[in-house]
Amino acid sequence: MALGARIEGENGKMGIPQLTAEKYNKILADYEKKTPKSKKLYKEANRYISPSGAPAYMIWHRPYPFFVKKAEGSRVFDVDDNEYVDLFMDQGISIIGHNPPRVRESIARTMDKYGVHLELCEELATEWAKKVNKHFPSCKRIKIVNSGNEATALAVQIARAYTGRDKVIKFQGHHHGWNAVLSYDGLVAGSGTLFTKGIPENHWENLIALPINDVDKLKGAIKENKDEIAAVIMEPMGATTGGPPFQEGFQKEVRELTEENDILLIFDEVVTAFRVALGGAQEVLGITPDITVFGKAVGGGIPIGAVGGSEDIMGVLCVLDSKADCFGLDRIFPMGSFCAQPLAMAAGIATIEELEQGDYIRNSILRAEELTEGINEVAKALKADFSAYNIYSIVHFGLAEKIKSDLSNALDWLEFNQMVRLILLLNDPGVVTLPGHVYMSGVHTKEDIDTAILAFENCLKVYKE
Ligand SMILES: Cc1ncc(COP(=O)(O)O)c(C=O)c1O
Repeated sequence: MALGARIEGENGKMGIPQLTAEKYNKILADYEKKTPKSKKLYKEANRYISPSGAPAYMIWHRPYPFFVKKAEGSRVFDVDDNEYVDLFMDQGISIIGHNPPRVRESIARTMDKYGVHLELCEELATEWAKKVNKHFPSCKRIKIVNSGNEATALAVQIARAYTGRDKVIKFQGHHHGWNAVLSYDGLVAGSGTLFTKGIPENHWENLIALPINDVDKLKGAIKENKDEIAAVIMEPMGATTGGPPFQEGFQKEVRELTEENDILLIFDEVVTAFRVALGGAQEVLGITPDITVFGKAVGGGIPIGAVGGSEDIMGVLCVLDSKADCFGLDRIFPMGSFCAQPLAMAAGIATIEELEQGDYIRNSILRAEELTEGINEVAKALKADFSAYNIYSIVHFGLAEKIKSDLSNALDWLEFNQMVRLILLLNDPGVVTLPGHVYMSGVHTKEDIDTAILAFENCLKVYKE
């Protein structure tokens, strides 16, 4: 459906502000005027690349994305020489900014030693795993793979192998990658929308997708499937780190219920590890899961995923000191040509060291608070139906208050956010966002935030005038 197809009348569903067709067309025309080279590049890319095989931004940005020629710190520059404050930050990966010198140097040193890739043993993986274990003591042993998507699927397989049970509980809207194991109901947080094709319905027979914040439903599902549930998997701060957020204490209830019923708890910390704190959500919540999934920032920008847990649980994988035959049938044996690739290990180590020594996490949270406050102030001054809230360094915005309480029209909200993003890009400098939320990094400055607030103000004025 074309962007804006729902634009009719004064008020849309959920009270989503609507633009007149005239305003909408002008915004599109302005964007095209500002980004002619990007438009050409997009046309060409679309002839050869499946959009979902391209950077995610390609599918998320309509009518077409801008193409980047340079990225540095908190800013990106497009091929048409427009400058943007980047609040997208590679979907949260680049917490220490684009092109960080320490990571570049570490990658260069590693290439000097081992070349571009090496599938033989070297010391970097051990060094990386030790660092992760230092901050995540629950992860005594860690299996390294190449993406969060692989890692969440593997975490579920580990839980099933360990417990000898098949069923898994996930929460609606929680995103754990596109794998067939968990990609049920995950595109629009909380919408309950099934977004994937090509997976037989019966594949999900063992997956129970529950609404968030509903302890009774969770208790009911556990009771109904007594001794059949291997694990509960969750994004520990809520879908997309808090959009919608958990009610206070919900995660603790999940931990208690899983413990009482001998069910493993999997924290998908792909976003939260080394972001909300060095020790991730488990550190700030004071909750120890049985299995932790990592991705994004822990590879310093090079593809990575990992699963960690106790020696006992991780013992279902082939382990080096196992008395059992590693190649025997009683072990999971997840091989991968690129597992623990040296460049990812080197970039990950450098990123973790930078986070340990710098003020990045604190700064990213501070900037998120400033942005949240700024958006809410301009929205209030303009009497606009718009608000923001932050969960640590992630800012959720839009019809945020409504999204927190009413998830039924999330697809309309997504349409609205497409237009918001386009208007934000049209500012000078523009502002790059995701639908409804942004990731602050440790290198964003007060000036970046002021620019972003001004951009939001301009955006809301377009809706109000
Ligand atoms: C919480 C969470 N889990 C898993 C994934 C999948 O990770 P990847 O994109 O590395 O496959 C994502 C990606 O955005 C994520 O946010």
